[in-house]
Amino acid sequence: MIQKHIFGSPFETEAVVKKVQKSNEAPAYGAVSLDNGFTFSYTMDEEDIVYGLGEANRGLNKRGYCYISNCTDDPNHTEDKRSLYGAHNFILISGKQTFGLFFDYPSTITFDIGYTRSNILKVCCERADLALYVIEGSSPYDIVKQFRGIIGRSYIPPKFAFGFGQSRWGYKTKEDFYRVARGYRENHIPLDMIYMDIDYMQSYKDFTVNEENFQDFGQFVQEMKDQNIRLIPIIDAGVKVEEGYQVYEEGVKNRYFCQREDGSDFVAAVWPGDTHFPDVLNTEAREWFGDQYRFLTDQGIEGFWNDMNEPAIFYSREGMEELKDILKKYAEYETEPIPVWELEGTLKKLANNPEDYRRFYHNVNGQRVRHDLVHNLFGFNMTRAAGEAFERIAPDKRFLMFSRSSYIGMHRYGGIWTGDNKSWWSHILLNLKMMPSLNMCGFLYTGADLGGFGADTTRDLLLRWLALGVFTPLMRNHTALGTREQECYQFENVEDFRSVIEARYRLVPYLYSEYMKAALENDMYMKPLAFVYPEDDFAVRVEDQMMLGNEIMIAPIYEQNAKGRYVYLPEEMLFVKFGRDGSITEEFLDKGHHYVEVALYEVPLFIRRGKCIPVVEAALSVEELCTQKPQMLGYKGAEYVLFEDDGVHKDFENKNNYRVLTKK
Ligand code: GLC
Repeated sequence: MIQKHIFGSPFETEAVVKKVQKSNEAPAYGAVSLDNGFTFSYTMDEEDIVYGLGEANRGLNKRGYCYISNCTDDPNHTEDKRSLYGAHNFILISGKQTFGLFFDYPSTITFDIGYTRSNILKVCCERADLALYVIEGSSPYDIVKQFRGIIGRSYIPPKFAFGFGQSRWGYKTKEDFYRVARGYRENHIPLDMIYMDIDYMQSYKDFTVNEENFQDFGQFVQEMKDQNIRLIPIIDAGVKVEEGYQVYEEGVKNRYFCQREDGSDFVAAVWPGDTHFPDVLNTEAREWFGDQYRFLTDQGIEGFWNDMNEPAIFYSREGMEELKDILKKYAEYETEPIPVWELEGTLKKLANNPEDYRRFYHNVNGQRVRHDLVHNLFGFNMTRAAGEAFERIAPDKRFLMFSRSSYIGMHRYGGIWTGDNKSWWSHILLNLKMMPSLNMCGFLYTGADLGGFGADTTRDLLLRWLALGVFTPLMRNHTALGTREQECYQFENVEDFRSVIEARYRLVPYLYSEYMKAALENDMYMKPLAFVYPEDDFAVRVEDQMMLGNEIMIAPIYEQNAKGRYVYLPEEMLFVKFGRDGSITEEFLDKGHHYVEVALYEVPLFIRRGKCIPVVEAALSVEELCTQKPQMLGYKGAEYVLFEDDGVHKDFENKNNYRVLTKK
C-alpha cells in the first residue's frame, strides 16, 4: 500500500508516473515538523536496517552516517563524502517496523541516519514543498517492487551493451581507436564497445567531431561496426560559447539556455571554456537539445554517455571576479600571516559553488525557477532529452544511454555509471555495495569504471575488479588522462584477462535474461542476501556478497594479495569457477562459512540449491555468441526460463522470448 502526502506546493519532478492516491492524514510512521523547513523524524529500533539512497557512499545498510542528496561533481569518493553525482531519495527501514519512504524533492535534502543520534532518523530540507510517499508491504523486497511499480519501467539497453567496453580519456585520433580494437582482437579478448571521451570533439563542442582526426566519421563508425565494435561518444552538458557554432547560435536565438536574473545567458566554464547550459527542464529546449543527437545517430552511432550534468561548473564569471578580489587581498599582504588553508579553501570553492547554482534560472511552463531549487533534476532531464529524441529518431530501436548525474525518474531513460572512482581496492567494495541500492531506485543498467578512473591501477586490482564487472550490466574499463595505461592487453599474461572477460561472455545469455526479467517485472537484478534469506540472521548482515538474478550469489575478492576469501552460504550451493581456456570447476558446498580459493584469472559464482544456469561458449562479441544449445550448470533436474530476444528492438512482451532449459 502506498500513501502520498503533499506538503506545500511541490515541484512536479515526474519521478512518479503512476497515480497514487493522496492522503489527508499524517504519515503512518514517524513525525513531520514544518517549523523550520521540513523535517521527518523516526526513532529507529536498535536492530533496524536502513536501505536505499541509490548512488551513495558507504554501506548497503546506511545507518550511522549522514548523506546529502545534492548532485555533485566530486572525483574523490572518500568515506567522508556525503554527496555524489545522483539524488535518489528512497529509503527503506527494515526491522521492528518495515516501510519505505520516497521524498520527492528536487533540491538539497539531508538524510541523517543515526549520525547525530544513533537511534534517530532525520530527513530535512529547507523548503516544505514536497511529496512524501510512504510504502508498506509484506517485506522489504515487496516494498521495493511496489516502489518500482510507481516510478515506471527501468531503461532497457540493446544487447550489445552487455558486452565489454574499453574507454580512456585521451584517445584522440582514429589510430588510437584502431590500436585499441587491434589490441583486443589480436589478443582474442572479447570487446563490444570503445568509448569516445571528449577528445573526439572539435574544441569540446557537443555534436561536433574533430574533422582533422576523424575524416569520414560515418565510414569510420561503420568500419568499427564491421568488426562488431560500437563507438560510444560522450556528450557534455555545457554548450560552448562560440560564434558561428550552430548549436550555440540556435540556442541563443531561441532562448534555450539557462538565464541569469537579468535575462542574459548564464556562463559557466567547463571543458570547452565558457559554456551555456541547455534548459532541459523546458519542454521545447529539451526537444531541441535531444534532436542534436541526430548529428551522431545519422552517422551510425547507437550509444552515448552523458557527462558533467550535475551540471558541473569549474567556475563562473561572477565566481572568478570574487576570487580575484580575495586573491588581491592576499597578494597585497593585507592579511598576515597568509592563512594558506583558507586560501586553498577559497580556490576549491570556485568549482561547483552553491552561489553559482543560485545565479541562473529555468523556464518551466512559463514560470521562472531558480536552478538551485531544482538542481537535482538537471542530469535526469538532459538524459531524458536524449531518450525522448531516440523515440523520435528510431521508435523501435534501443540505444545505449547512461548518465553521470541522475534523479529517480531518469532510470526510465538510461542507466548510470558511478563516476570518477579511484584505482583503490576499497572502491571495488563500494561498487558492489552500491549495486543493489541503485536497483532499489530503478537504476538497473549500472557499473563503475573498472580498474579505477583516477590514480594508477595495478594488474591484480584490474583483474579482481573485472571479475566483479563480469556481473554488472555495464562492464567498462575506463581511466583518466595521465594515468597508467589500463587496457587489458597492456599487462603481462594477457590470457588471464582473456579468461575473466570470456567468463562474462559465457554468462551473457543468463545475465541478459535476468536483467530483462528484472526490468519487465519491476524486480531487482542484484539484491542483498537479506531479501532472499530474511530469516537467516547472519545472511541479513552480509554486505560483501550479493544475490544476482534468481539463481546465483556472487562474492568478489576485493583485497590485494588475497588468495581467496571467506564466504557465507545461507544454504547449500554449487561453487563454480570459470578458469583458463574455458575450464569450469564445480564443487558442492554446505550451508555455512567457507574459505574459497580464487586465482587472479578466475571468476567465482555460487548456484543456489535446486537451480541451474545456462552457459555458452565465449565469442569476441555479443553478436557472435551462439545460444542454441547452452551448457547447463547447477542442480540436476532443475529448470531455467531463459529470456532471449533480438536485443535490438522492443518486442519485449512476446511470449516466444521465453524458453525453458533443463539441467540433465
Ligand atoms: C569526467 C568524467 C570522466 C571523463 C572526464 C573527461 O571526469 O566523469 O569519465 O573521462 O570527465 O571527459
